[in-house]
Amino acid sequence: SRVVKLAVIPGDGIGPEVVAEAEKVLDAATAGSDVTFDKTRFSLGAARYLETGDTLTDDDLAAIKGHDAILLGAVGGVPGDPRLKDANIERGLLLKLRFELDHYVNLRPSKLYPGVPGPLAAPGDIDFVVVREGTEGPYVGNGGAIRKGTPHEVANETSVNTAFGVERVVRYAFDLAERRGKKVTLVHKTNVLVHAGSIWSRVVGEVAQEHPEVAVDYLHVDAATIFLVTNPGRFDVIVTDNLFGDILTDLAGAVTGGIGLAASGNINPDGAFPSMFEPVHGSAPDIAGQQKADPTAAILSTALLLDHLGLHDAADAVTLAVEDDIAARGDSIRSTAEVGDAIAARLQP
Ligand code: NAD
Ligand code: IPM
Ligand code: MN
Repeated sequence: SRVVKLAVIPGDGIGPEVVAEAEKVLDAATAGSDVTFDKTRFSLGAARYLETGDTLTDDDLAAIKGHDAILLGAVGGVPGDPRLKDANIERGLLLKLRFELDHYVNLRPSKLYPGVPGPLAAPGDIDFVVVREGTEGPYVGNGGAIRKGTPHEVANETSVNTAFGVERVVRYAFDLAERRGKKVTLVHKTNVLVHAGSIWSRVVGEVAQEHPEVAVDYLHVDAATIFLVTNPGRFDVIVTDNLFGDILTDLAGAVTGGIGLAASGNINPDGAFPSMFEPVHGSAPDIAGQQKADPTAAILSTALLLDHLGLHDAADAVTLAVEDDIAARGDSIRSTAEVGDAIAARLQP
């Protein structure tokens, strides 16, 4: 039998509500198998910060590193809450985890499941994955401001792109495309961001040489947003930087039935650190505590988690249960727990 040490970070807002359902499904998917989850719950997020002043201590981080994988709900308080002004939970917790655990692949699949009411009149077949770089770009905190608060303030937020960092994520994207539709689209803004753009284009060109079967194309990020709406079926694997990937994946979620369905994995492919699985959405303070959140994104994130652990049958079973649930949904309004229960029930052996 195999024991998987799972760190669970429910977080803030709807985080704990959707994670409860994800855990239900994870347990149902592995019930009767020889896999069990040994879970440690970490109380992290805005609520913890307001109580103790801590975002992520060295002890928290060390303890999390001792796990095989991480399941996270969402973190972050109400945008604009003055008490959180100095905390920056997003940087101090979420990004710190992604950086410290070297989650250089932020994997965000988008698939339009049959029966999902989407905003597009003629969506076609949508099934692509955004491979978003997770450790570099404008996210690294390489910035600063001078003459703060004056009319002459200057604020810089420099995007960091290293050949090492770009190459490893581009390689991952090509390997993934080999196992999927054999197409990689680089999304960037090389016409304006010429220095960063030049690294990305060059590396994609070089790695493409090693993958003659994989078709390669390029889109500027602004044009990519057009095609994500007018012809999302054209995409297989999109590889892009941290910020473009963030923006594109909310849009991708919206065109495939809403952010309540969008799952993600923050992957350390080398296995040196635990990978972390979480819905693409945030803590949704506007609906928190009301059992209104759709837990499907968190549940589909557990499918990514199971896949990452090599438990492919369980992963497929979760995906299938979600697919069936979505097909049967219609326009029924169900609570967060009702959705989780319905999906878990489809997994009973
Ligand atoms: P958000 O994703 O939390 O919410 C955007 C909109 O989508 C809201 O109207 C919300 O009600 C809706 N929504 C989100 N998830 C849903 C679900 N599962 N079911 C139904 N509706 C859902 O984005 P935001 O409002 O920009 O951010 C709120 C907080 O979350 C901020 O503090 C932000 O920094 C943080 N955040 C955290 C993460 C994360 O933990 N990974 C991701 C994004 C935002
Ligand atoms: C996401 C979120 C995060 C990001 C924020 C909360 C730091 O928007 O996971 O998409 O920008 O990566
Ligand atoms: Mn985002």
